[in-house]
Amino acid sequence: MKKIIVAIDGYSSCGKSTMAKELAKNVGYVYVDTGAMYRAVSLFGLRNGIITDDTIDETRLQQAMHNIQIGFKTNAAGKQETYLNGENVESLIRTLEVANGASRVSAIGFVRRELVRQQQRMGIDKGIVMDGRDIGTVVFPDAELKVFVTASPEVRAQRRYDELQAKGQPEAYDAVLANVKERDYRDTHRAESPLRQADDAVLIDNSHMTKAEQSALLQHLFDERTR
Ligand code: DC
Repeated sequence: MKKIIVAIDGYSSCGKSTMAKELAKNVGYVYVDTGAMYRAVSLFGLRNGIITDDTIDETRLQQAMHNIQIGFKTNAAGKQETYLNGENVESLIRTLEVANGASRVSAIGFVRRELVRQQQRMGIDKGIVMDGRDIGTVVFPDAELKVFVTASPEVRAQRRYDELQAKGQPEAYDAVLANVKERDYRDTHRAESPLRQADDAVLIDNSHMTKAEQSALLQHLFDERTR
């Protein structure tokens, strides 16, 4: 069967990664969470004083990009985890602080160029499901299947709130909702590769869909494209 590239873009906390991971597992493709890569850069910047509450030292960050190695490994339970310079940072990159930093560094051109270059290399042999914000528009504009996922901010905030609660990192719902809206705004208004639906992407609004319904729809689209 021919191998394709599946590009899944959309707003934060809209369930993109759940859908993407599941499809990758079912069809035996590699899954790449590009948001985790921006989060890893954010964590590096926060740890090294390059990112503070109100500034980013772009000169230092640009120099540091050469020293930031990001990778993925699958753990014993079959879950993919993110590594920063050989350290497992999977849980550390999932905090609101790191998410905010990620949203800020993702607006910087040289950060995007470097991560896009790495992502394009990962997809060279196809057989990949990649999720993010610019996969169908910038990273793989020729992807055979592009999906743009969305859901209302309130639904996404509730999902994120539940996730944080389950992880033992509770945050107030209002703070989570404000964070979702702030990130939406930044993601769609930045000058560099703003989040937008590619003209040839299939739109999935999953506000009122179950995970099983979304998965079935994505699998159907995949089957159509690989027939
Ligand atoms: O999907 P996420 O919440 O893990 O992404 C973290 C941040 O990185 C988010 O603010 C958007 C940004 N991002 C991006 O600009 N481009 C991507 N391909 C993936 C994520």
